[in-house]
Amino acid sequence: MGRLFVCGVCGHVAFGTAPEFCPVCHSPKDKFAENAEAIKPAEKEGKEKHVPVVAVTKGCGLIPGACQDVHIKVGSIPHPMTAEHSIQWIDVYLNKIYVARYMLTPASLQAAVSVHFKTDQQGTVTVIEHCNLHGTWSVEAVL
Ligand SMILES: [Fe+2]
Repeated sequence: MGRLFVCGVCGHVAFGTAPEFCPVCHSPKDKFAENAEAIKPAEKEGKEKHVPVVAVTKGCGLIPGACQDVHIKVGSIPHPMTAEHSIQWIDVYLNKIYVARYMLTPASLQAAVSVHFKTDQQGTVTVIEHCNLHGTWSVEAVL
């Protein structure tokens, strides 16, 4: 996965180098620290599942003819969303460049989002999610 740099304020993970400013919370570069173990390896999953599951579809119809869609859920067994234990955010990247963060609240949401990419975009989508109890997990898919 290469070098990983983690924002000490919001937990955003940057690939390769620390950015001048965090694209999520705008903290300066000096808030980032390199951490090779920022993302937990999939094989460390226990009974509770945290590795995101991703399905790519071409055209959900929301933007007719103009979107390709990445549907994300956290965990092959859906992750809990309770006040005590929940998925707090999901960051999405295209070709290792940050594109979006989804902040989740547990009271009314499932641990899932859909992302609508423009149809001319292609490459590797990386999804990183953060559980308040069990840390940060990732998966990749091809757009
Ligand atoms: Fe968890």
